[in-house]
Amino acid sequence: MSRATHLPLRVGSRTTVALDVVEFELYPVEGGALPRWRPGAHVDVVTGAGAVRQYSLCGDPADRGRYRIAVLREHDGRGGSAWLHEQLHQGDLITVGGPRNHFRLEPGPSYVFLAGGIGITPLLTMIRQVDAYGASWSLHYGGRTRGSMAYAEDLQAIDARRVHLIPFDERGLIDLALALDSVGPETHVYCCGPESLIRAAEDACARRGLRLRTERFSPKALAPSTADTPFAVRIASTGAEVVVPAGRSIADVLGEAGVDVLTSCAEGTCGTCETAVLDGCPDHRDSVLTEEEQAAGDRILPCVSRSRTRCLVLDL
Ligand code: FES
Repeated sequence: MSRATHLPLRVGSRTTVALDVVEFELYPVEGGALPRWRPGAHVDVVTGAGAVRQYSLCGDPADRGRYRIAVLREHDGRGGSAWLHEQLHQGDLITVGGPRNHFRLEPGPSYVFLAGGIGITPLLTMIRQVDAYGASWSLHYGGRTRGSMAYAEDLQAIDARRVHLIPFDERGLIDLALALDSVGPETHVYCCGPESLIRAAEDACARRGLRLRTERFSPKALAPSTADTPFAVRIASTGAEVVVPAGRSIADVLGEAGVDVLTSCAEGTCGTCETAVLDGCPDHRDSVLTEEEQAAGDRILPCVSRSRTRCLVLDL
């Protein structure tokens, strides 16, 4: 992770909340209030080897005294979650960046939430909020087994009639037709979970003309819309230009030229590197911006995205 606002936090508690899922409560070392956040926000957590992982905040946004994150131990992951499970204990210090929010809860009269596994974490806070506002909502929550599904009881305690738990070993996959067939176009659909669920939700919502917001933890498969060719990037504040060759990212080339772009995931999923575009047309290859945001062309994720025009002018 390059230049960032980092906070040292202390682990107040760690609690197993489902099979392979541990919840950490994190407190400011010096006391005081933590930065504000809204449902859908995530933080960057710096793990032992310096690797940075993104975790959704799943506590109460009104509680400025602590953050809560839930970490699924990924047995075939890159080691970040295993380090947190094995090495991070009550009383330890951890460095956290953010919070950032690219999965914002839009106001509306009704919602359908689709969760797969640990994808429940950003939706949990959204559900608490929309329920408190009196909006209509339903949750369709799939997991491998009942024991692997974090916060199932908390969700049922909010309103069990609206919560549909779908353990795969008992009921198979989430029935998207059942979840979506009876909802109207005013409904907001939010989905977080494995790529297979998100892609199925994208197809199902597109067929029904429904608005869908998603959050991915791994990059979506993309067919690049243009060939990977060189282009220029101009720094608006100085007028300096760099050439981004095929096979290199804008963020890397700018970093080499001494222009720091804040990065974290470097794969287009976290939104940390988002930068304003002042001129030129981005070739979006990220998994963060919505179709509308990409079409607007005024923002880019320079860790993965490129340019459709000979030159991009960035607000740096
Ligand atoms: S660094 Fe994560 S989207 Fe660019």
